Amino acid sequence: MSRAPLPAYYDDLDATFAALWGHLADGAAHGRSGFHLPVVATLGAAGGPRLRTVVLRAADRDAGTLRFHCDRRSDKAAEILANPACALTAYDEATKIQIRIEGRAALHVDDAVAEAAWAGSRAMSRVCYGSEPGPGTALPAGDAYALPDEAAAGALGRPHFAAVLVRVERLDFLYLDRRGHRRAAWHRCGSAWQGGWLAP
Ligand SMILES: Cc1cc2nc3c(=O)[nH]c(=O)nc-3n(C[C@H](O)[C@H](O)[C@H](O)COP(=O)(O)O)c2cc1C
Repeated sequence: MSRAPLPAYYDDLDATFAALWGHLADGAAHGRSGFHLPVVATLGAAGGPRLRTVVLRAADRDAGTLRFHCDRRSDKAAEILANPACALTAYDEATKIQIRIEGRAALHVDDAVAEAAWAGSRAMSRVCYGSEPGPGTALPAGDAYALPDEAAAGALGRPHFAAVLVRVERLDFLYLDRRGHRRAAWHRCGSAWQGGWLAP
């Protein structure tokens, strides 16, 4: 039986909502968090779900948005343009919390959102966006692609860079503990969030 103290928000719905966004913000800031690497689902051209891991770059509770980055030549970019419906999930082993998110994704390529995201990117991250050919291209051999050096990555990578802002529409929080799991969900209701406890 676990003897660790229960979180202060254990039976407090509003505090759970605040903790949820706090965990997402912590995930954006720290690689050790399970929320740093959510899995993102989009809908493929054939209508089925498609999943991949991304780095969570920002979580803004006030705006109700999340941000990640991708190559605008990638499948996920095309899928978001075709259908903005998306979902994310992540589990943090340390806190035993799963967060599931549903929302609508928008690809930002040439606006202030993209510029700020690019400006905040490290040189080693920028290099990926200068890869040739683009992500998903069939290669004759595993090493038949090229990456620019960090000095050239600014010019070569920026045209391929996209910031993805997810406008969150629904949140599902699950905390696992032998003394009793806790699950709650919220959905956007105008400018507010409406939520409640759910059976886990
Ligand atoms: C730890 C990890 C972090 C990743 N972060 C990103 C990311 O932030 N953005 C991204 O586009 N792909 C990221 N990827 C690669 C994607 O998971 C995926 O393989 C790639 O983007 C192609 O996906 P797509 O064909 O669905 O577009 C990451 C993969 C791993 C394993």
